[in-house]
Amino acid sequence: MSSQLETLNSSIDEVAALFDVQLNDAPAPVEEREALKAAPKFGTVFSDHMARVTWKDGEGWTARRVEKYGPLQLDPAAAVLHYGQEIFEGLKAYRHADGSVWSFRPEENARRYIRSARRLALPELSVDDFIGSIAALVRTDIEWIPTGDEAALYLRPFMIATEAFLGVRPALEAEHLVIASPVGPYFSGGVHPVNIWISQDYARASRGGTGEAKCGGNYAASLLPQIQAAREGFDQVCFLDGQADPAIEELGGMNVFFVKANGDIVTPALSGSILRGVTRSSILQLIKDRDINVTEEHITLASLKAMLESGEIAEAFACGTAAVITPIGRLADHDFDVTINGGEPGKTTMDIREELTDIQNGRRPDRHGWLTRLA
Ligand code: COI
Repeated sequence: MSSQLETLNSSIDEVAALFDVQLNDAPAPVEEREALKAAPKFGTVFSDHMARVTWKDGEGWTARRVEKYGPLQLDPAAAVLHYGQEIFEGLKAYRHADGSVWSFRPEENARRYIRSARRLALPELSVDDFIGSIAALVRTDIEWIPTGDEAALYLRPFMIATEAFLGVRPALEAEHLVIASPVGPYFSGGVHPVNIWISQDYARASRGGTGEAKCGGNYAASLLPQIQAAREGFDQVCFLDGQADPAIEELGGMNVFFVKANGDIVTPALSGSILRGVTRSSILQLIKDRDINVTEEHITLASLKAMLESGEIAEAFACGTAAVITPIGRLADHDFDVTINGGEPGKTTMDIREELTDIQNGRRPDRHGWLTRLA
């Protein structure tokens, strides 16, 4: 495995220029586009174009292009439809006050995409092609980037196995695509505390499974527990590791942090079945910068319950690209039900949230060099 694949080796202009732009002959009229951008429900509105690269065994990645957004033509025998050979990423393009467009640590997403591809036996896409595809799409659909608080263009790179073959083996053909969606806050109603149900009945991942990869199957596995949580009156599910003395893992679409009453912060350690969140690692850095004691730990459900019930945990929050940082107001399972910080967003949670979103939106210095200019 060449380490060249895992680094951006050229300028953004150079990697974007590899994509042939075939413009949509019927883009959304300006007024319609502006109306769609104004208050979109997360993930429901898509821009005029998509980026695309094709892979064939023996040929490698070819046909880098940006084309009209639209339905894919897939053979009904395409491997992705039968065996779920698929991976995806999530990142955002932010428009800064001076009109420039930036993304947040896209090389980290590109590297995770490579690791996910390995786990799902899909071809590895270079960091250059990953970033080239998002830059080419963002430059083409630059007018789709919404402005305003919490607004961004959410980018969804994904890779599917397209070979028409029903035998169970890695497909010999695949497509990498990127679609773009103007978004506001992930949860409807803006930033407010969410209630979390801890699932003892279902796990999303197991030791040696695909939990660390960003693949559709992990999210499919989280849907039934999500229905169960909604029936109990909760917004999201927290998953355990499925071991005998179960430990807290993540929320399926988000990592989780706990702020203690003494100011220390703790988050579940990466176990091999937890997603390596880019937001998670950035938050860890921002907390260290504040000289707050932060640890990545094996947090058993029993110890979490004890800390919640004794008041040792003062705040909790979930984090991810889509949800940024979302306060947790209540945590429960069949045996306990605890309201955190009176069900209100905690101060530390909201301070870190403000710092992170300020950096992403160019309102504070980017002291760690996390931003990449796309346009
Ligand atoms: C993200 O935060 O970007 C995610 O991928 C989570 C989710 C929307 C599935």
